[in-house]
Amino acid sequence: MVSEIGFGQSQLIQPLFLAEGLSKEEPLSGLPGNSRHTLASLLTQFEKDLAAGVRQFLLFPVPAHKSNRNFAAEFVGTALQQMRQRAGNDAAIWVDTCLCSFTETGHCCVHDARGRQDLGATHAALGVLALTYVKAGADGVSPSDMNDGRVAYLRHKLDEAGHDIAPIMSYSTKFASNFYGPFREAADSAPQFGDRKSYQLDVRNRSDALASSRRCAEEGADLLMVKPGQPSADLIRPINEQTGLPVGAYQVSGEYTSLVLLAREKFVEFDAALIESWHNLRRAGASYIITYGARLARGLGLPR
Ligand code: PBG
Repeated sequence: MVSEIGFGQSQLIQPLFLAEGLSKEEPLSGLPGNSRHTLASLLTQFEKDLAAGVRQFLLFPVPAHKSNRNFAAEFVGTALQQMRQRAGNDAAIWVDTCLCSFTETGHCCVHDARGRQDLGATHAALGVLALTYVKAGADGVSPSDMNDGRVAYLRHKLDEAGHDIAPIMSYSTKFASNFYGPFREAADSAPQFGDRKSYQLDVRNRSDALASSRRCAEEGADLLMVKPGQPSADLIRPINEQTGLPVGAYQVSGEYTSLVLLAREKFVEFDAALIESWHNLRRAGASYIITYGARLARGLGLPR
């Protein structure tokens, strides 16, 4: 996935949304071709994606019940086992590891009784989720929460449990961005009060954005990422040069939907614009790209 030469479908990661307790697949209007899935529809989609050449997946679990402390992710374990049965070792399955779909507050962290971010409880909850995922067969975890120190904590927890080869793909330079709108509908994760600016990065601060990725590298992340992708393209190469690690780009929901809407108004040709957007990120130095269109790549003529 992180080969530095060539560019093909192997460098693309397909997100998949699994919603616990859903009775029927719900297509996402902002992300055509993507849905909130039941377990059954997820597995069908997964098989289709494998047949379409997708080899990297990022699973987003959306639990039926929100809580402020007790996060149950058994439903993800069941899905991972069945995905593994279908894919064998042909595909890599990453799981987005965050709390915003799990918490009543819609925040990526746990709050204490006084309403302040509780870092210890947040780490502990992320650790339990990460272990559940890896034990059930995830190839790696992808923490997207942006809480301080979470990569070091997860690395330690995974190592301690004997999962020292499970890689961490960290959302390492993630901005508090306006471009995540369509995603929040999919993951049912909009913050119920305030915003994410106390843990996500300020778009005006370049040095902070670089330092955030450097910290993740020091804490043991294996792969780094900028998010949103195109708006952060200027940071990809500097992060790679400062850390030596592969740096990917998340072409986020708002970026993808903007192409969809432009095409709907006939201002662009969707396929050509999508490929261009991937090439732009690749030129900027992205080792891999998370994109809602990964499953379209072969049809668009991209090599493996
Ligand atoms: C959860 C998470 C978000 C995205 C990926 N993981 C939303 C957020 O941080 O608010 C955004 C993905 C997208 O917009 O496509 N922390």
